[in-house]
Amino acid sequence: MKSILFVCLGNICRSPLAEGIAKKLAPQLQIESCGTGSWHVGESPCLNSVKIASLHGVDISNHKARQITNEDLKNFDYIIALDESNLNDLKDMGATNVTKLGSYGFENKDVPDPYFFSGFEGFEKVYEMIEICLKNLFK
Ligand code: 4NP
Repeated sequence: MKSILFVCLGNICRSPLAEGIAKKLAPQLQIESCGTGSWHVGESPCLNSVKIASLHGVDISNHKARQITNEDLKNFDYIIALDESNLNDLKDMGATNVTKLGSYGFENKDVPDPYFFSGFEGFEKVYEMIEICLKNLFK
């Protein structure tokens, strides 16, 4: 495994966190993230994702959201979706090398979309879920 692309919907909450945590755990790999949607292209990650990452010593503040392209499907060895709907969208695009992050440690559960969370607490849960799955992936 040389390269991994993490994919969520907006590329501003979950997949930038997965990218940041994965880069810390596996610095030898080429790791990126993107979204299936285009609404937030060019934006920085949401403030709560930046905050929870920074509390764990991970800096994702320089990330800029981008949308997945067909080229990505060819260029990355592994594509990892954050939830079932991301997974289905990727399969619809023709991705074959795609799995769901929750399959590495959370009974294949979705990493919940924190975009509409009211408080910060949900982000701690999301961070923990992503970190546990990634630690299992890189074992
Ligand atoms: P993400 O969160 O997929 O974890 O980046 C979302 C960000 C934006 C939207 C949905 C989810 N949105 O609907 O704009």
